[in-house]
Amino acid sequence: MTMDNNARIYVAGHRGLVGSALVRNLQSRSYVNLLTRTHAELDLTDQKAVERFFDQEKPEYVFLAAAKVGGIHANNTYPAEFIRDNLAIQTNIIHAAYKNAVKRLLFLGSSCIYPKLAPQPMKEEHLLTSELEPTNRPYALAKIAGIEMCWSYNRQYGTQYLAPMPTNLYGPGDNYDLNNSHVLPALIRKFHEARQENSPTVTVWGTGNPRREFLYSEDMADGCVFLMNLPEEKFQPLLAADRNDGLPPVINLGVGKDVTIRELGEIIKRTVGYQGNITFDNTKPDGTPRKLMDVSLLHSLGWTETISLETGIELAYMEYSRRISVH
Ligand SMILES: NC(=O)c1ccc[n+]([C@@H]2O[C@H](COP(=O)([O-])OP(=O)(O)OC[C@H]3O[C@@H](n4cnc5c(N)ncnc54)[C@H](OP(=O)(O)O)[C@@H]3O)[C@@H](O)[C@H]2O)c1
Repeated sequence: MTMDNNARIYVAGHRGLVGSALVRNLQSRSYVNLLTRTHAELDLTDQKAVERFFDQEKPEYVFLAAAKVGGIHANNTYPAEFIRDNLAIQTNIIHAAYKNAVKRLLFLGSSCIYPKLAPQPMKEEHLLTSELEPTNRPYALAKIAGIEMCWSYNRQYGTQYLAPMPTNLYGPGDNYDLNNSHVLPALIRKFHEARQENSPTVTVWGTGNPRREFLYSEDMADGCVFLMNLPEEKFQPLLAADRNDGLPPVINLGVGKDVTIRELGEIIKRTVGYQGNITFDNTKPDGTPRKLMDVSLLHSLGWTETISLETGIELAYMEYSRRISVH
């Protein structure tokens, strides 16, 4: 089932890192009927409002990229909001999609659904095999409940809901706030500011040894649209009812390669043109030693990323430079 260029496509969370990349990708492929609402226009935790929206707009395809997201600090400080808002958003949308006969829905999750000590690389089958990382457990459990809803609706109602799990993302519209940004945008900003100020060193938290995987947001969007457009014979086997491995409808969306934080720092240093040194602050925590996704299922369907980490960082830095020069 390929989406028709006139299909009514709802991108929930279209102003976010993920949602905005999805909108750009869909526009570049000439999809002309994109449905979007800002948070102020439609609060997705409001069940009645979501029902009204679906009833009026009748989307045929849904990309569910709206969520309450944040770093360790936010997850620790507002755990009640993280579990409540995310459960509400996804429950409202998934149920409204079913009631309005949406043809396909993609529910965006994240790699934090996998156990803290999952074997590496993490495969879809590692879901629910051991304990989660405690700091973002409320968020992860909400996402797991969303996956279970997709599984259950597919089983009971024959819906076509799939849950791609992207690895760490970066790209246009990313958050560069040093207090709550992810490592990659935070390092871009640190190196940029160090170059501007002629600082002799940039200090990176931890030992530099942990390994992380990164996917450029435009590639992520391309992968999601690829999945949404999969022909029936390839899409159906990913769904609960048909899935040979008995797994919920989860698919990893990543590059299957990782770099150390030290290597990441070196790439960003080169890209920014910083001439000083990098030092590591060993007193700061490293976090999980490795978080790498097994992407063999995705690759077997015929999709791989096109933007290398080096190119992606160049593009992200160009966008960051443009953004700060405007402000
Ligand atoms: N960023 C990553 O590295 C990454 C990696 C893997 C997976 N993901 C997944 O991708 C999804 C989107 O993440 P993101 O990074 O794009 O987050 P984001 O940039 O914060 O975007 C989330 C969007 O959802 C909207 N939203 C939140 N609560 C809402 C509500 N109650 N009603 C209406 N809209 C609401 C936000 O609007 P406001 O800002 O106006 O509230 C925002 O536009 C999440 O499920 C996340 O787990 C992200």
